[in-house]
Amino acid sequence: MDYSLIDFKIMGDERGYLVALEGEESVPFKIRRVYYIYDTDRYAVRGRHAHHNLEQAIICVSGSCDFILDDGKERVTIPLNNPAQALYIKNNIWREFTNFSDDCVVMVLANQYYTPDDYIRDYNKFLEVVNSPKISDFTQKQSLTLSTVQKIDN
Ligand code: TYD
Repeated sequence: MDYSLIDFKIMGDERGYLVALEGEESVPFKIRRVYYIYDTDRYAVRGRHAHHNLEQAIICVSGSCDFILDDGKERVTIPLNNPAQALYIKNNIWREFTNFSDDCVVMVLANQYYTPDDYIRDYNKFLEVVNSPKISDFTQKQSLTLSTVQKIDN
């Protein structure tokens, strides 16, 4: 599963804690959009989609929730409950989030403006996208075939 957890530097003193996020520094992309989710029913399921082309850093700035990631081959559940940590995900990952605590606030940083066409909202369509042969697979196959032909020629 292609995801990572980014630990941010915590600047704390006797007054409490502060985390500062900077695009292309602590967050590995230029930040074009920020949205946040709060006051969510514990058993609600948000997300249920993938993106063709989007990077996101997801931070549970208060409380806790569970993120379920699915790349078409495996499904993992990632509990988020640390305001100094981000879950970093890119395209072609189906995501669902649920099990929200009452005080849960999830903040999402994204590298693109809101683009409804970038969403894959149908799970079967998502499986088609992730299972379709990629150009890089094709190029690798071609070069294997070529090298085999060259070997036979020699
Ligand atoms: P939705 O995609 O259903 O949220 P989630 O994936 O968390 O379940 O979005 C809810 C509404 O908010 C929907 O009408 C689209 C709108 N929206 C925006 O206008 N801009 C945004 O950046 C996002 C994420 C959603």
